[in-house]
Amino acid sequence: MSDLLQQIAAAAEFIRKSWSGTPEVGIILGSGLGNLTSDITDSVEIPYEQIPHFPSSSVEGHKGRLILGNMNGRPVVAMAGRFHFYEGLSMQQVTFPVRVMKALGVHTLLVSNAAGGMNKAFNVGDLMIIRDHINLQPEHPLRGPNNNTLGPRFPDMSEPYSKALIAKAKEIAAANSIPVHTGVYVGVQGPTFETRAEYMYMHIIGGDAVGMSTVPEVIVAIHSGMKVFAMSVITDIGIREEENVITHEEVLEAANAAEPKLTLIFRELIKVI
Ligand code: HPA
Repeated sequence: MSDLLQQIAAAAEFIRKSWSGTPEVGIILGSGLGNLTSDITDSVEIPYEQIPHFPSSSVEGHKGRLILGNMNGRPVVAMAGRFHFYEGLSMQQVTFPVRVMKALGVHTLLVSNAAGGMNKAFNVGDLMIIRDHINLQPEHPLRGPNNNTLGPRFPDMSEPYSKALIAKAKEIAAANSIPVHTGVYVGVQGPTFETRAEYMYMHIIGGDAVGMSTVPEVIVAIHSGMKVFAMSVITDIGIREEENVITHEEVLEAANAAEPKLTLIFRELIKVI
């Protein structure tokens, strides 16, 4: 067995000792969006540092624990706090939890993130369902020898975000009078927020929102054969003419304020997956 396969197996085995269920849905919660975990019942929480081969999260607003339990009667595994490439981790480390989720039985991944808006129709606090992405990160989680037991060498990326799940999420949003945009997420390395010229460039190439996460996890989820749904909270706007200084605090504040809307959509979506 390769090192990676052994590490995935060791982490999955450790987690199974704490929780004997088989999670069907994996959830990754972004900055300031961790409260969904309070909906998980009969739960077991495992701090990342206890799980073999898990990196530990260093970012403020990311709690750094895995939560296993039931949500609306569905067995789920949720990450409160995720790993980012800008933390200095390798792409394999950033995406390791997704591999472990797959080993535990997860077939559908739900992802949230905080993102900067570039579409002129967007405002702070809006939600955007990700319908596609542009990967501008400098490293790729599948670079290196491919392990065929984990997935194919050249994964198809024509529909990384499940059209069926997007349609269901839109129905849920409409039924609950929650306005949602649908758009393209640009994944960048960070940790700087973008310059005005960079926001403009990303808008011109087809991006509606930009953030420092999500794309690596989604690539690995697709590689491993999962269905994916992802949604951004727009926490700042990058293309305003007036002065627009962006801080991490502002991002967290906007994410927290929009969280109940996002949580409702995720909670209802889990019922119908
Ligand atoms: N750019 C990149 N990442 C982000 C942003 C942004 O404007 N907002 C929240 N995460």
